[in-house]
This record gives sequence, C-alpha cells and structure tokens, in this order.
Amino acid sequence: MWVLYQNEFIKREDVHIDMEDRGYQFGDGVYEVVRVYNGRCFRLIEHTDRLVASASSILLNLPHTKEEINAMLEKLVQLNQLGTGYIYLQYTRGVAPRYHGFPESTTPVLTAYVKEKPIPEKMLAEGIDVILAEDIRWLRCDIKSLNLLGAVLSYEQAKKAGKEEAILHRNQIVTECSLANIFMIKNKEIITHPVTTMILNGITRRVTLELADKHGYIVNEREFTVTELLGADEVFATGTTIEVMPVVSIDDQPVGNRLPGTITKELQALFANERNSFETRT
Ligand code: PDD
Repeated sequence: MWVLYQNEFIKREDVHIDMEDRGYQFGDGVYEVVRVYNGRCFRLIEHTDRLVASASSILLNLPHTKEEINAMLEKLVQLNQLGTGYIYLQYTRGVAPRYHGFPESTTPVLTAYVKEKPIPEKMLAEGIDVILAEDIRWLRCDIKSLNLLGAVLSYEQAKKAGKEEAILHRNQIVTECSLANIFMIKNKEIITHPVTTMILNGITRRVTLELADKHGYIVNEREFTVTELLGADEVFATGTTIEVMPVVSIDDQPVGNRLPGTITKELQALFANERNSFETRT
C-alpha cells in the first residue's frame, strides 16, 4: 500500500510517526474522509475546502494549497489502484517537545492512505438500529478535528448495545450521530439540525439537502428534540461511507413500521443516481 507522507508516496512500512507528534500527543490536527467510487473522488473540492476551513479554525497553516492536496490525493488513488473505497487524510501541527502552547516553528505532518470499502448495499436496504446518547463532545463540532474521543465513546456505547450508531443530543436537542449527520421526516417535511458549531456540516448532508431541494421536497434546517425524533415518520443518517442510511429503530423503539421509509428510499435513489452519474462522468 502506498501512503502519502508529507510530499512523498512511500510504502506503509516506511511511515514512521514521531512520539512527539502533536497529533499523537494532543490530537492537535484535522482530517478528512473522502469517498471514492470506481477510482474517482466524490466531491473532493468540498472536502478540501472543509479541510482548509478546519485547519484555519485551529490556526494551523497548511503547507499545501487546495490544488496541491487534490492532485496528491488523486495520485494516491491511482497509485493504489483503488476502486470503491475511501481516502483518509490528516494533518497534525507537527513534531515538537510536549508543551501546550504552539511550537515556534514546526512543519505540519501529512499522512493519507486509501482503503477499499464497498457500498453497504444490504444495510442501505434494511436500515440500522441505533441508540440515543448524551452528546459529550466539545463545543466546536464544526471542526473536523483529530480529537474524537467523544465520538469514539458514543460509538462504542452503541456497539456494546449491539447497535450500529448513536444519535447524540445536547439537553434534549438532537445534534448528529457519532460519525454521521441525522435527519427526521415528519408529515413529509425533512428536518435536520442547522449548520452551527454543534454539528459537522457533512458533505453527504449537503448533497442530500441539495438533491431534496432540487426535487421539490420540503426541507427545514432547524433544531428538533428527542421527543420529536421519537415521533418521527422516518429517520435517516448521512455520511461519506454510509450515504443515506435508514434508521429503523432507536433504543429498540421502531421508527414508523421498522422499515426504511418512503421518502428515505427516494432520497437514497437520488443519491445513488448522483454517485452513479458522477462515476460515468469523464
Ligand atoms: N465522519 N458528523 C460527524 C461527527 C462525522 O464524523 C461525519 C463523518 C459526518 C458526516 O460527514 P460527511 O458526510 O462529510 O462524511 C457527520 C467520517 C466519515 C469519519 O470520521 O470517519
């Protein structure tokens, strides 16, 4: 496997992370996960834009331009002959003796690799069971930071309960999932948390809203409560690797009739069309 490390493409076994890397010691860095369909990066520019925004929010000066990053990532996909999967990339603030303040001068450390991951067809057709959990994350969830402990603990809580995901809420306001955005549908209205510092503005979220709007669905970006969620007609989560994923039960309570909802399935089809037409685009 070829890995992008700083400006070079090297073998996995030749990557050596320093023990004083601030990503390793403080989670001081940012990352992205980009979907790749048939060797082509999906919405790469949006991901790079978000990466640059995340870096800027943590006052991290990236050593590469967006164009350079895009070119390197496309080369990484080619070198690894990736079909359908994803790219993981991260920048840390760099290597320096452990001290909370920013180092005087250090070079950010870039690592990126790819992984095969098929479209989860069965799960998309059947939907997932989830739990509800208190949102214990920090207050800048809009930044795609390497600090994922809140998400990791919530996700693990879901897995321990034998479920696929955790829907998070802060003081009864539903924010998102541990690694996806969340939508509810009530009386044909598609509702999701607005873009604030409390959620990550997911690229899949944006594509879904874009498609829903274009096809005449009623879309409302507003806060909603756990009670509203539990009374929803349909619920679905969105994310790079899970696309538009139906949620069929929450804390063992069925959503609707415990089958993927009609509008959710329509949105899934629109998303699949987008991803397929993108695949064949030259
Ligand atoms: N997670 N919200 C959170 C907290 C996320 O971590 C993610 C993505 C999303 C969905 O964003 P997008 O549609 O751009 O993937 C929402 C990635 C995939 C991860 O951490 O693995």
